[in-house]
Amino acid sequence: MEYKIKSGSPEKQSSACLIVPISGNNKLSTAAQQLDEACEGYISKLVKRGDLARQPGKTLLIPGLHNVKAQRVLLVHTGKERSLSATKFTRLLQSCMAILKDSSVKDALFYLDDIHCEKRDLAWKVRHCIQTAEDSLYQFDDLKSDKADAPKLTRIQFGLSDRSQSSAVETAITQGQAIGRGKQLAKTLGNLPGNICTPTYLAEQAQQFAKNHKTISTSILDEKQMQDLGMGSLLSVSAGSDEPAKLIVMNYKGGKKDDAPQVLVGKGITFDTGGISLKPGAGMDEMKYDMCGAASVFGTLLAVAEMNLPINVVGIIAAAENMPNGGATKPGDIVTSLSGKTIEILNTDAEGRLVLCDALSYAEMFNPAAIIDIATLTGACIIALGHHTSAVLSNQNGLAQQIIKAGEGSADAAWQLPMGEEYQEQLKSNFADLANIGGRPAGTITAACFLSRFTENQRWAHLDIAGTAWVSGSNKGATGRPVPLLTQYLLDRAAEQS
Ligand code: BES
Ligand code: MN
Ligand code: ZN
Repeated sequence: MEYKIKSGSPEKQSSACLIVPISGNNKLSTAAQQLDEACEGYISKLVKRGDLARQPGKTLLIPGLHNVKAQRVLLVHTGKERSLSATKFTRLLQSCMAILKDSSVKDALFYLDDIHCEKRDLAWKVRHCIQTAEDSLYQFDDLKSDKADAPKLTRIQFGLSDRSQSSAVETAITQGQAIGRGKQLAKTLGNLPGNICTPTYLAEQAQQFAKNHKTISTSILDEKQMQDLGMGSLLSVSAGSDEPAKLIVMNYKGGKKDDAPQVLVGKGITFDTGGISLKPGAGMDEMKYDMCGAASVFGTLLAVAEMNLPINVVGIIAAAENMPNGGATKPGDIVTSLSGKTIEILNTDAEGRLVLCDALSYAEMFNPAAIIDIATLTGACIIALGHHTSAVLSNQNGLAQQIIKAGEGSADAAWQLPMGEEYQEQLKSNFADLANIGGRPAGTITAACFLSRFTENQRWAHLDIAGTAWVSGSNKGATGRPVPLLTQYLLDRAAEQS
């Protein structure tokens, strides 16, 4: 998809479709007014007659408007309220995209100026429009014989009434495309089934990444190397699988040589059967998504590399498959982690924290400015926050706040859960330094408490994305979250620096 800026009067634009808002009590936007004058009041007549419902996202497609060069005009109502929430704005863009897809137009020109979205400027609306367009056009049919046609829409333009905004909008276009592509990569990795997307496959993707981007270098640790380092916890997860675990390190160098990197650590369980603590059968296919934390690290690094952000970022992926073969870890087994701490594995289905703790210890080697791990870690997180908001837990309140702010800034919400020391007691083990489960109460918090025992000396935060990384039901698929949040967090760090 090509994205461009366009200035000049709307009636003179040769486009397949202009997208023009109508707001409040049927008020014509500036662009709508200009078109209305050209076609001698036809738009206001239709609107007055009630052909366009006064609800956000309702549309009216008008072909061949008199004295208007564009082939079609799509009126879209922004509703009765003065301004839209980011959620309603997204829905509005989605309904426009659905019409553009159905009418098979090749290009479209959006006039976003007069769509008021709470606390957001034009540049933000453009960036968000690009992300929504990329989301709407995404299709995953690599594994179907009957593939959908490539989308006809290949160019989206943004009408500017005020040229002074063009440099901010250009930046927004670059960012929107980078985040859009990052999300798509994360979705595709998430959607791939466990028999294709194995730890080895993820490692190969990471190597390919380094080939395609000269700012990224990749290194992979195999099981032997992890054994020699002492990653007994991570290896206890892959022990029951024929697929070897991999620790994948992707190093993006956009900053100065000695700038402390931001480190992102992704849970990459390419399939989670639960191991010997086997999961029930219903819906188990969805455990192919248990590597969506890792996928978001890939997606974010892609976005960062495409934007050439002037910071250093390290992506670490703890990739393993959790299976119950004869070599599998058993409940009650005790392993020694890279940190030296011993762990009593009371439930082999709490495997995410077992791979992450060793990856987090390994991350210390990079002397990070901050470490953020991203994981589909607990079913309890879905009970706490549902499918709309990711959980943030941190040993540094300031870092949690930066992440929440990045979530607001990118409309990819996250909310903080507490992590007081009282919760740590739930992880007591009679036989080892700590247990890998803390009972039913506050499952998301005790999982984070477990991780906190391996990041005591670090500025660290944990994102539980169990509810936000994919949708179930008839539209089952990965969402590409939290690539927008993570990318915004890194954009904010880059901005702070300059
Ligand atoms: N990958 C799951 C968490 C999960 C479950 C994510 C359902 C999305 C939907 C994780 O490895 C797991 O199994 N967690 C257990 C932990 C428990 C054994 C303490 C859980 O949440 O039930
Ligand atoms: Mn599990
Ligand atoms: Zn899991």
